[in-house]
Amino acid sequence: MDNRVANVVILGGGTAGWMAAAYLGKALGRTVRVWVLESPSVPRIGVGEASIPNLQSAFFDFLGIEEDRWMRECNAAFKTGIKFVNWRTPGAGEPGPRPMGAGTDHYYHTFGLLPESHGLPLSQYWFARKYTGETDVPFDYACLAEPPIMDAKKAPRFADGRPATRYAWHFDAAHVADFLRRFATAELDVEHIEDHMVEVLRDARGYVTALRTESGRLVEGDLFVDCSGFRGLLINEAMEEPFVHMNDHLLCDSAVATAVPHDDEADGIEPYTSAIAMKSGWTWKIPMLGRFGSGYVYSSRFADQDEAIRDFCALWDLDPETTPLSRIRFRVGRNRRAWVKNVVSIGLASCFLEPLESTGIYFAYAGVYQLVKFFPDKGFAPGLRDGFNAEIEAMFDDMRDFVQAHFCFAPRRDTPFWRANAELRLSDSIREKIALYEAGIAINPPVTDESTYYANIEAEFRNFWTNGSYYCVLAGLGHLPTRPLPLVAHRQQGIERAGELFADIRRRQAELLDTLPSNYEYLRSLHRAG
Ligand code: FDA
Repeated sequence: MDNRVANVVILGGGTAGWMAAAYLGKALGRTVRVWVLESPSVPRIGVGEASIPNLQSAFFDFLGIEEDRWMRECNAAFKTGIKFVNWRTPGAGEPGPRPMGAGTDHYYHTFGLLPESHGLPLSQYWFARKYTGETDVPFDYACLAEPPIMDAKKAPRFADGRPATRYAWHFDAAHVADFLRRFATAELDVEHIEDHMVEVLRDARGYVTALRTESGRLVEGDLFVDCSGFRGLLINEAMEEPFVHMNDHLLCDSAVATAVPHDDEADGIEPYTSAIAMKSGWTWKIPMLGRFGSGYVYSSRFADQDEAIRDFCALWDLDPETTPLSRIRFRVGRNRRAWVKNVVSIGLASCFLEPLESTGIYFAYAGVYQLVKFFPDKGFAPGLRDGFNAEIEAMFDDMRDFVQAHFCFAPRRDTPFWRANAELRLSDSIREKIALYEAGIAINPPVTDESTYYANIEAEFRNFWTNGSYYCVLAGLGHLPTRPLPLVAHRQQGIERAGELFADIRRRQAELLDTLPSNYEYLRSLHRAG
């Protein structure tokens, strides 16, 4: 008897639903029929604009879709990193960094791994110099090539298309969902049903057998993937799996958002996401051609919606009466189990972390990557389900801890929101990491080198935030190790080599500043050529 899963039904046609459909269609080929049931009356979440680099290597490359093709179809722009603005100094939301010491209150979190000298990452040598007063160059400008080119609004690619550095993308998530729908239905024979699900049918064991739609159709399947968004219609409502809220780690639960028109020719296009600290949260700024997407992510415990709208509109000089604003309430946390019986949740139906590190869309394709790895047959072996659930739990909790650390170690205490963040408890796992960082150790050194890290989703999944990311954020917030790693003092050759690496980085920065086209020029020609 053929025990293989023959029909996979995906409920929901947002970014997660179409990512799951395309990925499963490609991974399983014609052995499985994939159906997407999408309600014409329930809109997609409508935000989701910043990504991380492995979107290309782990997702689009797997589908065989070239970067420029989807970039053109999705009006995508480049993201060389995140610029954190005003996370250290007190004050109201301001678009630009405030003066701080000899510089301004900002730091960058870029992608890419740090160079090493004699077995230790450059961060450890930078801190040893900083500690003895040999350098006052901030970590990001000393150890990474990207900050000056981001300041100068340069593209992360040379004019001939070669990448100059690691980067990710900004885009409109709805365009990505539509592009993937066209791709999956045309090239992978995914079936699209536009109808509203009204009932979940189950057998005596509680396994889902079919979804009934408003028009009376029965969509039958063996495996059901819940991509219905925050409602979690299959996993939370039908299967009654509890959602574990994590507002004891992360306080933000709401957002107001809009698109702000922008004069690209006059002002250029910033090749990065900005995360601007506000009184009760932070605001994203995501530049694309002709506009930037922006939203104030805030905690409803510390600001009501009217106040959030006032502060957000004041930031960009918008009129609260006439600006079209989306008002979003979100849940933070994950399902206790992402997979129950024959229902697997992916995307917002599975878990959500506020978008500070742009992880939402990654969670969707990382989830479906894991689903393929643990893909069941009709026997639904508990080991496969449990293995999948353990991966999703570890992925989410690690991300949550890292994002919480941004708030926890931000030194500002000027409003109740920032004071409350400082008092929240960190998980034992990240406390142990921070203790190591403070003692001078590199946390999570990458298990592979730069050339293979981003092309190997398994390696990256296991070790997502490496030492370079922790350094960007913690040093950027002014939280430094207590002392340098004692071993550094025994590495004379390492210290000398590190000196050469610092000089190489300065040279590379100058060279890139000279040779890279502006982000605006590059994007304009990329999209014109489409
Ligand atoms: P989404 O809600 O978009 O889709 C749900 C689907 O289910 C819809 O197609 C709907 O029609 C369907 N549906 C619902 N009920 C149904 C029914 N009864 N019958 C049939 N169909 C039904 N991510 C990121 O990577 N970078 C970012 O910058 C951000 N920023 C961001 C900001 C804010 C404020 C939020 C809330 C979220 C983000 N995200 C993000 C997350 C990102 O938006 C999200 O991960 C993706 O859009 C995926 O959304 P889903 O497809 O899971 O749900």
